[in-house]
Amino acid sequence: MTTETTYKNILSEIENGILKITVNRPDKLNALNYDTIQEIGMAVDAGAKDAAVVGIIITGSGEKAFVAGADIVEFTQLKPEEGRKLSADGQKVFRSIELCPKPVIAAVNGFALGGGCELAMSCHMRIASDNAKFGQPEVKLGLIPGYGGTQRMVQLIGKGKAMELMMTSDMIDAATALRLGLVNDVTTREMLIEKCKEIINKIAAVSPLAVASIVKCVDAYYTRGIDGFGFEADEFGRCFAKDDVKEGVSAFLEKRKANFKR
Ligand code: COA
Repeated sequence: MTTETTYKNILSEIENGILKITVNRPDKLNALNYDTIQEIGMAVDAGAKDAAVVGIIITGSGEKAFVAGADIVEFTQLKPEEGRKLSADGQKVFRSIELCPKPVIAAVNGFALGGGCELAMSCHMRIASDNAKFGQPEVKLGLIPGYGGTQRMVQLIGKGKAMELMMTSDMIDAATALRLGLVNDVTTREMLIEKCKEIINKIAAVSPLAVASIVKCVDAYYTRGIDGFGFEADEFGRCFAKDDVKEGVSAFLEKRKANFKR
C-alpha cells in the first residue's frame, strides 16, 4: 500500500513501511530554499511519529542532482542576523534527521553539493549512485557550509581531508567518496533505491527500541560534555526495562525468529 502526503517542494510517499522523501525542484537541481528544508523537517518528523514507518530514504528528483546546494538566490542581500537565522533554522532540521529514532538513508543520485552534501551527511547512512558527485563549494561564494557541514564532514572523513575538500571546493566522484568513507556504498542509478530499501528492511527485522538507542549512543560520542561510555551503559541498562529484550533473548533461546512490536 502506498500513502502520499502533499507538500510544495518535496514528494513524500510511504510504501511497504518505507517513507521516501524526494526533494522535487529538478529545474533548480533540487536546491534547498528555506521552505524546502522546513518541508523535509516536517516529513521526517511525521515519519518518526508514524508507527507504520520503519525507515526513511531521502533522495532527489530528476536525472542530475540529489541536491545542488542551498538555494543561492536566497543569499542575495542577507544581513548577518538573517544569515545566522537561516543557518540555525536549517541546522535544527538537519539535527532532527540525525537524531531520528528510525534509520534515515540518503540515496544520493547525482550532485550533492553544499547544503546537499550536508543533507546527506546528516542522514545515518549514504548510498551513492555511480554518477554522484560531492563537494562543499561555499568558499567560492565567500561563504562556509552552514548546515552542519564543518562539523559532520570532520566526523565522517577526518580533519585533513575535510579541510582539503572545504578549502579547495573540489568536487569528488562516488568512488572517491567511498574511499574516504563519506558514503557507505556505491551502486548503479537503477539499483539505488532498491539498495536503500534492502538496508532498511534488514533493520526492520531487529528491535526498533535498540535501533533508537544506537542513534542516541552514537550521537553521544560527538556531544560535548557527555560521557559516551557512561551514556552507553545507561542505555544498555534501559534496554532491560523494555519488552524487546525479553522477546529478542527468548527468541534466540527458543531458536525462533524474534517478533518485535512496532
Ligand atoms: N541554487 C540556486 N539555483 C541553482 C543551484 C543552487 N545551489 N544549483 C543549480 N541551480 C540552478 C541554476 O541556476 C540553473 O537554473 P536556470 O536554468 O534557471 O538558470 C539550474 O539550476 C540548472 O543548473 P546549471 O548550472 O545550468 O546546471 P549545470 O549542469 O551546468 O551545472 C552545477 C551543475 C551543480 C555544477 C551548477 O549548477 C552549480 O555549480 N550549482 C551551484 C552549486 C553550489 O555552489 N552549491 C552550494 C551552494 S551554498
